[in-house]
Amino acid sequence: MNRDLRFVWPAALACFLLAALTGVLYRYGLAFGETFGFSFVNIRHAHSHLMYFGWPTPVLMAIIAAIRIPPERRRAISPIIWTVFAGATASYPLFLLFGYQTMAIGSAELPIAVIASSLNMLAWYAFVVVYAKETRGTARDRAGVLFDLSLLFLVLSSLGAWALALLKPLGIDSDIWASALTHIFLDLFSEGWFVLATLGVIFAVMPRDRDAGGHWSIALVCAGLPVTFAMGMPSALVPAPLASLATLGNLSVGVGLIVLSMILIRRLDSANWLLFVPLAFLFLKATGQVSESLTPAFSITSIPGLRLIYLHAMLLGFVSIALMASARLLVEAPVSKGAVITFTIGATAMIASLIMFTPLIPFDWIGSWTFRAAFWFSLVPIPGVVWLLIDAVRTARRASITTFRP
Ligand code: HEM
Repeated sequence: MNRDLRFVWPAALACFLLAALTGVLYRYGLAFGETFGFSFVNIRHAHSHLMYFGWPTPVLMAIIAAIRIPPERRRAISPIIWTVFAGATASYPLFLLFGYQTMAIGSAELPIAVIASSLNMLAWYAFVVVYAKETRGTARDRAGVLFDLSLLFLVLSSLGAWALALLKPLGIDSDIWASALTHIFLDLFSEGWFVLATLGVIFAVMPRDRDAGGHWSIALVCAGLPVTFAMGMPSALVPAPLASLATLGNLSVGVGLIVLSMILIRRLDSANWLLFVPLAFLFLKATGQVSESLTPAFSITSIPGLRLIYLHAMLLGFVSIALMASARLLVEAPVSKGAVITFTIGATAMIASLIMFTPLIPFDWIGSWTFRAAFWFSLVPIPGVVWLLIDAVRTARRASITTFRP
């Protein structure tokens, strides 16, 4: 039964591939004016939801379980991760077709894509319960501390989503609450769950003897995270005291992440040098946060192109490349180094191409060529993923995330 966790890696890569191709469709639509009947907003929702729920989430859960839970006690993990995949893939066509729109089912108007993806949240809670039960009272090294904290932020982020869903039934029609709760959900999910858990994975693959448990930089990140949601809200909706608190929190998160990325970069050696690029992306993202906090007139989220590059530096540049490079070290039958390098180059080129949509490029340079170039660049991470997927399917019989031995 435990060996069944081996399905996670190829299944998550397949989700990544489909979600990436959906992003490519968005770029194709902008470049050539054809989206095959799907709306841009729905394509974007389908892309981001499948990426969030079908890629890092199940991979992180499998790796955390492999590292922290003994093989004979992982029985419940496999069905939980299957449920995560079921929610992610069932909601994908619904987001593509309907987005957040409600559908009339009987006498009720229901947002069916949201309902299908909520299936995920029940699986997250189940994972957290099993994890808490099976790791209670065990010693935590730094990776263990980061996993605990990342799961705490996963639960906190989900509370934002439930509260958001309750606004309408409770008759609360408030832009401030809707925006705040959306950002509590999305920001704590990506900046808390993904970033902290991925850092845990990286600490797990690095030599461990110097890692006691926590570190003051982790405390800085966790102290700042709960208030950073306000940085993403339209500034007109944020009361002044909350805006100041969010700026301080953002600074705290940025400084903490810079320190953590430096600690890890200094530890790289010949066995794990592939992790340099994702750590450099983490450093860049954190530097952006610190600059934003120290420069009152500068806000990453208020400039759409900058928000896009910031998001993809974190989610593609840091989280995705780090998971692919770490899987090489965690999966028993190695993922080929060539595939990871191909993906790293492709993802880095794609992220760099997003500079075209930032104020760094003079506005009068932008024309139809920009959208065509962005389309071609969106294709460059694809060969690496296809290679990784072929590797994963070929080695699935031998490879197993569960065979990792700390
Ligand atoms: C091959 C890799 C990828 C491609 C080609 C891609 C492409 C895109 C495109 C075209 C957009 C819409 C841009 C716009 O609004 O102008 C987008 C948005 C987004 N992507 Fe990606 N992306 C990739 C990887 C990822 C990954 C790995 C994640 C997360 C794990 C991710 C999460 C998101 C999110 C959250 C948004 C913003 C959604 C929103 O604001 O509603 N993307 N991406």
